[in-house]
Amino acid sequence: MIDISLTVNGEQVSARVSARTNLVDFLRGELDLTGSHVGCEHGVCGACTIRVDGVIVRGCLMLAVQAEGADVVTIEGLHDSGEISDLQDAFLQRNALQCGFCTPGMLLASAEYLKTDGTPDREGIREFLSGNYCRCTGYEAIVDAVEKIARARADNCGGSK
Ligand code: FES
Ligand code: FES
Repeated sequence: MIDISLTVNGEQVSARVSARTNLVDFLRGELDLTGSHVGCEHGVCGACTIRVDGVIVRGCLMLAVQAEGADVVTIEGLHDSGEISDLQDAFLQRNALQCGFCTPGMLLASAEYLKTDGTPDREGIREFLSGNYCRCTGYEAIVDAVEKIARARADNCGGSK
């Protein structure tokens, strides 16, 4: 067992973990942050997407011990911060979720797109989200929602994007 200390959703966390525990299992099992989902468990589906030190990663491909000293944000933290409230509303309005299994990862990845690029370009959005699988295949509505917010945010910035 190894002692780790990190920040999760703005709170300092210290824990003793097995060397083989991955980060998403730690978040779900030890901290009860079950918004991050576990699908394929080998880096393919994106259900476990979380933000670590400002960039999205696959929580199933990172060990909890590798998060020592890191700043981790899960879907719960992103929700609480209000950063994606417009995006969440757009997902709801456009019915961009069905079973909801992929939704936390989709929101994390969409937030990253809006932060790093944000162009209201459907092809760009599709490509950026291509590592996140929706087993309900609701991609059209997801792209609609992200495009809508990309457009709205660009308009709010004076149409600079
Ligand atoms: S569970 Fe991590 S990418 Fe699928
Ligand atoms: S809404 Fe069911 S997996 Fe995407």
